[in-house]
Amino acid sequence: MSPLTITRTLPADATAAALRADVTHGLTRTPKQLPPKWFYDARGSVLFEEITRLPDYYPTRAEREILLARAGDIAAATGARTLIELGSGSSDKTRHLIGALTGLHTYLPVDVSESALAAAGRALLSDHPTLTVHALVADFQEGFPLPGTPGPRLLAFLGGTIGNLLPEERAAFLHRVRELLAPGDALLLGTDLVKDEATLVAAYDDPTGVTAEFNKNVLAVINRELGADFDPADFRHVALWNAEREWIEMRLRARKELTAKIPALDLAVTFARGEEVRTEVSAKFREDGVRAELAAAGFTLSRWWTDRAARFALSLSVRA
Ligand code: AVJ
Repeated sequence: MSPLTITRTLPADATAAALRADVTHGLTRTPKQLPPKWFYDARGSVLFEEITRLPDYYPTRAEREILLARAGDIAAATGARTLIELGSGSSDKTRHLIGALTGLHTYLPVDVSESALAAAGRALLSDHPTLTVHALVADFQEGFPLPGTPGPRLLAFLGGTIGNLLPEERAAFLHRVRELLAPGDALLLGTDLVKDEATLVAAYDDPTGVTAEFNKNVLAVINRELGADFDPADFRHVALWNAEREWIEMRLRARKELTAKIPALDLAVTFARGEEVRTEVSAKFREDGVRAELAAAGFTLSRWWTDRAARFALSLSVRA
């Protein structure tokens, strides 16, 4: 087997069917909403990488600081021979972990973006030529089969992406993760933390407009994949802090009354002037809440690390 394999766990038309279902459901309900996973086509993945370099977008740098400081601890605590990473994107931060896991045999990145997986796999193999990289094009929210690889396994879900799931989705997701693992395997989870509103909103509403572009990219995806005629310029990027739910919401707000045609769905969608579609929630966490959600899914939290400014946390848990 070549050291880099890319496997699609779903036929391409399953992704198309899921997009159709999400758009049909999300744009015909009130209030309108779309799941954030549709941001990440090739352009959306590039825009997200740009976001991670913005001065106000602290989560990526904070998580990297923790990984750099704790990679040795994580390696010693887990002894992982297989590293599974869900939503791996560019795998950029994971390099610190891969460098520290001395007994690592297989890296198994899982992402919806095949372009990101291919680029990340190639870059990793140039640094770690003896590593087996088996990339899976899959939606981590769905169940998918994992190839048999040597244990112990460490499953990493970084970047705070768990915060993009709604609470019920998080519970279902963590149960599925538990089923992928054997007793004694470990889960490394990145969670952004509750903090002052100004810092949070600035991270999702940058002055250069990169986050606005990223947010509007979901309209470009719907235009391309479903033949729709959204004009992204008709929408304003909105980021706000929901203090009750303790999450950031991104929305797109119609600047005027408009109707968009979506031929592939045989659908016309009307927006009133000022009407919004919620495109993402990004939940922020506290240690007790993370511990409780993990426990409910059958994980015992064993380590909790934050960056020096305590903006972001990495937790290590063991599958009971
Ligand atoms: C890193 C994917 C979790 O919610 O912060 C960045 C995505 N959205 N800016 C996050 C995102 C808007 C991001 N994740």
